Amino acid sequence: MSISKAVKSNVTSKYSVEKRLQIERLVGATQIVAPSAGSDVIEGLTQTPKSLPPCYFYDDRGSNLFEQICDLPEYYLTRTETTILQQFASEIAKITGPCELVELGSGSSSKTRILLNAYQQLGYPLHYLPIDVCAGILESSAKQLLGDYPLLQIDPLAGTYELALAQLLPTQLPSRLICFIGSTLGNLTLDECDVFFSQIINALQIGEYLLLGIDLRKPKEILEPAYNDSQGITAAFNLNMLEHLNHRFEGNFNTTDFEHWAFYNESEHQIEMHLRSLRSQIVELRALNLKVNFARGETIITEISRKFDLNTIKHQLTARGLLPLNLWTDPNQWFGLLLCQLQG
Ligand code: AVI
Repeated sequence: MSISKAVKSNVTSKYSVEKRLQIERLVGATQIVAPSAGSDVIEGLTQTPKSLPPCYFYDDRGSNLFEQICDLPEYYLTRTETTILQQFASEIAKITGPCELVELGSGSSSKTRILLNAYQQLGYPLHYLPIDVCAGILESSAKQLLGDYPLLQIDPLAGTYELALAQLLPTQLPSRLICFIGSTLGNLTLDECDVFFSQIINALQIGEYLLLGIDLRKPKEILEPAYNDSQGITAAFNLNMLEHLNHRFEGNFNTTDFEHWAFYNESEHQIEMHLRSLRSQIVELRALNLKVNFARGETIITEISRKFDLNTIKHQLTARGLLPLNLWTDPNQWFGLLLCQLQG
C-alpha cells in the first residue's frame, strides 16, 4: 500500500491488528536482501583501513542486542534521553500542535510511546510512520503499538533513511515531526550528516519540525564503559555484524577469530568501534565473490559515535535552515533534545 493510500484510508480500531498493519518494504542498495546489495560491503572491505556500514548491525538478533544495550547500566544514553522526554514531551506536543510523527531508526519505538502519550493526552490524532532497516522489529513493535493505541494509524517503512525519506508524501495532518532521537546522528560522518540534513529538509514543508536527540561531550571515563559494558552485550552486538554478513552473503567469518574494540578518540570527539582480527586469515563472502585478507591485529571500523558540542550543532542546523526552537537537557548536560523548525 502506498503511503498516500495509507493516509487516506480510514483505518480504525474496529479492524484487527493484522488487518491494520501493512509494512512497506523499500528495496535499495543497502536494503534487506536485494540481489544487488553488498556493494557497500565490498567497498568497505577492500579499502585501507577496512570498514563496514553500521546498518549491518541491525538484523533481528542485532536489533535485539541493541535493545539490551539500551538497558545496560553503563549505557546512560537511553536512560537520560527517556528522562528528558518524560519531562518535556507535552511541551514538545504543545509547540508542534497536531502532527504526523515520522521516526528514523525506530527500533522498538519505546521512547516514542512517551511522545504518542503526550499527543494523545492533548486529543491530537495519532499518525506514526516508523522507519527501520530491520523489518522484524518494525513488525513486532507495530503490532504492540496497535494493540495499545486503538486510534493509532501506523505505516511502517522497512528501509534506509534515504529511501524512506524520499518516499514521504506531504502529510494530511497540519504538520509533520521527524524524530531522529537516540543520538543516531552521531553514527554519521560530517559529510554523511550534510547529505542527511538535505534529505530531512526535502521531506519537510516550511514550518514543519525535526526532533533531534544528541549525545553531548563528556569525560572518557563515562563514555568508554558505555561501549565496553561488563556483560559483553556491546561486544556481542559488534561481532554479530559478522554473523549477519555470513548469513546475507554466504560468508565464513569465524567470530572467535575477531574481538570487539571500542575507545574514545578525543581529538575527533567520537567513540570508534572496531572488530580486530586475532590472527592472519582469509575470509570469503561467496555471494559477493569476495576474498578478504586480514593481517593479525588488523581492524574493521564498524561504527563511529560522535559526541556533540551544543553550540556547534546549533550553528550547523541554523545554517541549513533548521532553526533550533528549543533545547531540553538533563541536569548533568549529558544529552540534548533539540526541536528545530524548517525556515522559509
Ligand atoms: C544507535 N547508536 C546511536 C548507538 C550509539 O551509541 O552510537 C549504537 C551503539 N553502538 C554501540 N552501542 C550502541
